Amino acid sequence: MNIWFATNNKHKKTELEAVLGTKLKIPSEEGLEFNPIESGSQFYENTLIKASALYELLKIKEPVIADDSGLCVDALDGRPGVHSAYYGYTENKKLSSHEQNLLLLEELGDSKNRKARFICSMVLYFGSGRFYIVQEKMEGEITRKDGIKGDGGFGYDPVFFLPEYNKTLAQLSEEEKNAVSHRGKAGRLIADYLSIIHNGKN
Ligand code: IMP
Repeated sequence: MNIWFATNNKHKKTELEAVLGTKLKIPSEEGLEFNPIESGSQFYENTLIKASALYELLKIKEPVIADDSGLCVDALDGRPGVHSAYYGYTENKKLSSHEQNLLLLEELGDSKNRKARFICSMVLYFGSGRFYIVQEKMEGEITRKDGIKGDGGFGYDPVFFLPEYNKTLAQLSEEEKNAVSHRGKAGRLIADYLSIIHNGKN
């Protein structure tokens, strides 16, 4: 049985494959055009939008995992939140991850409150009548301007500081990140559901 992952982000695919211990199929590598409009105002809504959109595209129906994640910064009232991927975009201009990180630090300025969290909602989807959905988080802090560090991971990792490691997320190995990350935690819960299903207990 193949398991699909409703993303075009190869970093996310690698991270989740490591957590699940299994290979995943993603639309871009299988010749499928996949660009659903993430119109939900909650992470779990977008998760279901992505999962059902990919499921509908599949000729042979196989389980689909979808996730929706983002960075919520307390001093910015939870922004960029569900809009993290498109933070700072205008009609004519997309920003690179580095530009988004600089914009975030600019917006946050000298704010003393640097608290932030990554959120990940993830679903294991077998069709509109049957799915398992979970949501997890990872707490941390946004660095100061001189604190952008590391070249691992992706997205906001270089500005997300973990006091317990005294490092940014981008300075952790993939294994270390998966052990503490929002996606790692959610992925392990989905792995539990998969093993229950494989063992015929549901
Ligand atoms: P999604 O693909 O719609 O879930 O968009 C998630 C966006 O949130 C990504 O494009 C990143 O900007 C950000 N993001 C989510 N998870 C992470 C992470 O683990 N590290 C860094 N940025 C992340």
